[in-house]
Amino acid sequence: MCGIVGIVGQTPVAPLIVDALKRLEYRGYDSAGVATIENGELARRRAEGKLVNLERRLKNEPLDGMIGIGHTRWATHGVPNETNAHPHFSNGVAIVHNGIIENFAELRQELKGDGYEFTSQTDTEVVAHLIARELARGVKPVEAAHVALKRLNGAFALAIMFASDDNLIVGARNGPPLAIGHGEGEMFLGSDAIALAPFTNSVTYLEDGDWAVVRRDEFQVYDIDGKPVERQRRQSVGSSYLVDKGNHRHFMEKEIHEQPEVISHTLAHYLDFTQGTSKPLDLPFNFADIDRLAFSACGTAYLAGLVGKYWFERHARLPVDIDVASEFRYREMPISKKSAAFFVSQSGETADTLASLRYCRKEGVPIGAIVNVRESTIARESDVTLPTLAGPEIGVASTKAFTCQLSVLAALTIRAASQRGTITADEEQALVRSLSETPRYAAQVLKLDKQIEKVARDLSHYKHVLYLGRDTSFPLAMEGALKLKEISYIHAEGYAAGELKHGPIALIDENMPVIVIAPHDRIFEKTVSNMQEVAARGGKIILITDRKGAAQATVDTMETIILPDVPEFIAPIIYALPIQMLAYFTAVFMGTDVDQPRNLAKSVTVE
Ligand code: AGP
Repeated sequence: MCGIVGIVGQTPVAPLIVDALKRLEYRGYDSAGVATIENGELARRRAEGKLVNLERRLKNEPLDGMIGIGHTRWATHGVPNETNAHPHFSNGVAIVHNGIIENFAELRQELKGDGYEFTSQTDTEVVAHLIARELARGVKPVEAAHVALKRLNGAFALAIMFASDDNLIVGARNGPPLAIGHGEGEMFLGSDAIALAPFTNSVTYLEDGDWAVVRRDEFQVYDIDGKPVERQRRQSVGSSYLVDKGNHRHFMEKEIHEQPEVISHTLAHYLDFTQGTSKPLDLPFNFADIDRLAFSACGTAYLAGLVGKYWFERHARLPVDIDVASEFRYREMPISKKSAAFFVSQSGETADTLASLRYCRKEGVPIGAIVNVRESTIARESDVTLPTLAGPEIGVASTKAFTCQLSVLAALTIRAASQRGTITADEEQALVRSLSETPRYAAQVLKLDKQIEKVARDLSHYKHVLYLGRDTSFPLAMEGALKLKEISYIHAEGYAAGELKHGPIALIDENMPVIVIAPHDRIFEKTVSNMQEVAARGGKIILITDRKGAAQATVDTMETIILPDVPEFIAPIIYALPIQMLAYFTAVFMGTDVDQPRNLAKSVTVE
């Protein structure tokens, strides 16, 4: 959840490192820092809070030096202040770290016993002292780093610099991603290709257990035993996207508005709109040969998977076991050999999701990854990658990635149903046609922004909100609650509407608006009775429905948001937009940091 950068360059690197850190700030923004080697000495500037604070610091106290490392932090150990900000130093060693050193306490004890003084509360500092202790024992820098790496347990991506050698950065990866960027007479290290985009799109991703010696004109990757290994050098696509807000106030607003376009790109990748069929996929199995699916993901990606469960079970008659990855990875779910597993992840680096994938790998089932970053670890460790073509999603709250995940899952459902013969050719064409209309309907919904903004203004005065939905609107109710709470900090819960009477109805009063997501579908009447239960107890209802639903709701609502009449199959994709917009505008009224909400990070690469 932090971002790290390293440059062995030919010009002063501090401004370049800051530019790269800006592209990594979505990974964490509690504090930031840069270190360089100036006249054979380590020098650093660090600042608490957002990167702008570090920029200000560097403006007042510039750093020279043509080699440097930088870091933007999401705090795991130690409060987010300057003292705990990376880079950390120890006797001529400078280090930046993304991840968690799980055995840091015993190492700290051991190093204190050897007389090392700790200035921070971080786990990272133990690595700097471990390396310094090797140097003090006369070990050369590269070997000193290697010896220290072998003592570490846990997840880490590291960039290590030595005052004694201004043409050397050692990188290491065990869990969180790290890439080498290839320049002309200069080399780079970064947490991902987006960070390296300003410098190069030629990258080499390290694998778990790798470490690398990087110099201006050469690099070598080694495995943990010190054996040289070859890693593929590739052209990164991540760098080709323009990452800025355009004419929007926030990345989240921009990304909400990109949805009609990116949904259409994604659907076109999987569907033949002319034939009305799903395109062949190079899956390592035929859906007709399997009898179960396992899904696992986190957060919004998990909720996309939950919608997918309804689709697969309804249209492909294929049971889906789904769980949040932090539970899945330890549940040891028995997986039949006649099953396949799919993992949904925007970043493709979420630690829990990756661990669940590795559990399924051990169980010997074929693995598919639905990811937005095609070069990500989850993609690289899967048998097949099903990309969402959402483009880089910078806002921490996932929006366009979610609807693109749903688009992939919808297309995959059609593929599965077609292979299993649970839908006719006509039914396949009807489902494909309904998906082909999704971008148009999405664009129509975006035009409801003024009404939704008005509702959000009211919502911003409340402390608690309840979202209700049935069937595929139930995961949407949870997604709406997740969006609202993660960016506006208003407490919100998403519930299956039918569960209201089993407890949550005790919460209902005029102080907690109830947002009901209810297209006029096969179970609409059931949701109407839930709304009546709410209204009878003075609850305030915000209904998100369509024309027929509004006409048949038979309850007074605080507000009714009427969406276009859409085919039932695509309703979850279309109804995602108003709940995203509602959360966005509420957060704007609350004055929170919409793109970088407190305590969060875009990619959770630690447990
Ligand atoms: C989404 O709004 C959240 N920020 C978060 O739940 C996110 O979906 C989750 O962390 C999973 O991330 P991933 O898709 O990159 O794996």
